[in-house]
Amino acid sequence: MKFYNREKELNYLKTYCQLEPNSILFVYGPKSSGKSTVMLKVIEELNKRDDIIFFYYDLREYATPTKDEFLNIFFEKGDKKYLLNKLEINLKIFKFGIEENFDFNNLSLNEVFTKIKESIKEAVKEGKKPILIIDELQKLKNIYFNHGGEEGKSLLNELFNLFVHLTKVRHLCHVICLTSDTLFIEEVYSNSTLENTSEYYLINWLRKGCVRDILKEEGFTEEEINYAINYISLPYEIALLVNNKKLGLSVEETIKQWINIEKNKLLYLIANVPDELNENKINEILGKFKNDIKVKYEDIIKKETINEFKFLVENEILFYDVINGIIKPTSVKKWYSIKELLKN
Ligand SMILES: Nc1ncnc2c1ncn2[C@@H]1O[C@H](COP(=O)(O)OP(=O)(O)O)[C@@H](O)[C@H]1O
Ligand SMILES: [Mg+2]
Repeated sequence: MKFYNREKELNYLKTYCQLEPNSILFVYGPKSSGKSTVMLKVIEELNKRDDIIFFYYDLREYATPTKDEFLNIFFEKGDKKYLLNKLEINLKIFKFGIEENFDFNNLSLNEVFTKIKESIKEAVKEGKKPILIIDELQKLKNIYFNHGGEEGKSLLNELFNLFVHLTKVRHLCHVICLTSDTLFIEEVYSNSTLENTSEYYLINWLRKGCVRDILKEEGFTEEEINYAINYISLPYEIALLVNNKKLGLSVEETIKQWINIEKNKLLYLIANVPDELNENKINEILGKFKNDIKVKYEDIIKKETINEFKFLVENEILFYDVINGIIKPTSVKKWYSIKELLKN
């Protein structure tokens, strides 16, 4: 796969990884904006230095991981404090080490955390800079540990305490968490454990200038570019456009199809709203986007329509940027499909 220009984001994250750890970093942005792709590029490039080691965990493929799955994703049995993830063929990333004879079933949360800390400290002792990255971290939300008197401790809440300890308190390693779930970012943002301990970095839509340069590079004509530039906001859309052109579909046809498909999906979603939600309120919220692609937080978030708003965010129609107080459709093509819908 080609990697399209994400110079600014790549530089930010590469530099961040090389600063002294002092806070947890939350990388957020609309779904498919390219968060995981940029992060993997950072790993690939920084892996050329042998003093940085990455502990990278991707939870994207799990609907909701269980406690066992969590342990298998994060830990590897062996005689070292940290071990290479053998399942990753192209990427040098590590897992936390755990003794062969350890019984995952009886592992307490305290033991889990001790193991993580031991791995990190061992790496530091060996002169390495460990970086811990968790992709789609919100998926750990429903995991609880019950062991030896621990009453259903929430893994994620306890992990946040550990992350604060590793970064802000002891400066041992970076912790970078990625998520597309902006309602989760809001929870994190208002979590008192994390006050003054976290930073946020938005990986947003591609900038117009970037889209123009990429399309030019891909051999599109000036006319095609001037049309497409109004609709493209995500990297994979460019890849689709390139393929469709090879398949004989014009830029205009492809984009019109996209908007049509998105509009139909939206119609279907609205036709199937749960009974407790009010369709008029959904239309009222969408109506705010008739002329504007982004709307201020206070113009949308109201007590009477909060559930309808959350429904639109959960279904990836709207992207809620709590840090900047802005709400917008998840992509530009989504915006056009909303506008089409409003014409009816
Ligand atoms: N900079 C990029 N260059 C080329 N393709 C990209 C780029 N960023 C993302 N993509 C593609 O877009 C899709 C979604 O990207 P991904 O990184 O998974 O998004 P996110 O993690 O933000 O949801 C993937 O198919 C990926 O290959
Ligand atoms: Mg991702």
